[in-house]
Amino acid sequence: MAIELFSNGKHRCIMFNDLVTDTSEEAVQANQFLIVSHDQGALIDPSGNITYNALTLAMQKYLPKKNLAFLLASHQDPDIIGALDKWLYSTDCHLYVSQLWSRFVPHFCNLNRADGRIIGIPDEGMPIPMMGSTLYAIPAHFLHAEGNFQFYDGTSKILFSGDMGASLVDAKSITTPITTKAEFYDQLHTMSGFHKRYMVSNKVCRFWVNMVREMDIEMLVPQHGRYMQGEAIVCFLDWIENLQCGIDLFTQEHYRFRPLSVR
Ligand SMILES: [Fe+2]
Ligand SMILES: [Fe+2]
Repeated sequence: MAIELFSNGKHRCIMFNDLVTDTSEEAVQANQFLIVSHDQGALIDPSGNITYNALTLAMQKYLPKKNLAFLLASHQDPDIIGALDKWLYSTDCHLYVSQLWSRFVPHFCNLNRADGRIIGIPDEGMPIPMMGSTLYAIPAHFLHAEGNFQFYDGTSKILFSGDMGASLVDAKSITTPITTKAEFYDQLHTMSGFHKRYMVSNKVCRFWVNMVREMDIEMLVPQHGRYMQGEAIVCFLDWIENLQCGIDLFTQEHYRFRPLSVR
């Protein structure tokens, strides 16, 4: 099912939440996002080979494939950009990804196809102009990848937050946003383990929260699980600001060589 997150007639933000099919039970649920602005398209975190065919079909209801101008990748993981070669082969799009990864992601591709089409985003981020709108690459380094960006749509005021705010849930449960404090805390068990292990440290979470609190955000929409609005965004920021995670929780015990015991 496609979920329309925003539309004003000329600018639409569409979320695809159930394209990781049952035949790939091992794969984590992931959301892909299509922004269509004045007939020009951008895909955010378009995922890997598991969803490529389904996403191509789903997308064409909203945009002719030839009008896909941008692939925007929050980071370099296979669930983000694993199908890069297919997108470069079948469209004229350009990929925007952290400059830390722009010389690594061509390993996913035929090098001739990638030539001149992969744009490295500098650490401080950058605007990405679309027809009639501007997207912004927003720094989110170490949340979780070393070079990591989120994408803010200046028209809809949606922050596509990558793995920040992710929850590990079934695709069927993603229909409406989490809006209230009560619902946020009811859903927290689907988020906490993921953030504790994948986010690098409390220090970078706090930097990110300070930045986001200064922004005008209507929705916080992660790459996995349910999206948030209103009071739930405030609750998420308060929670992640105080979360001990990643290297905060690691000790020498996590770095022990454990040879096989002799029988
Ligand atoms: Fe990731
Ligand atoms: Fe992810």
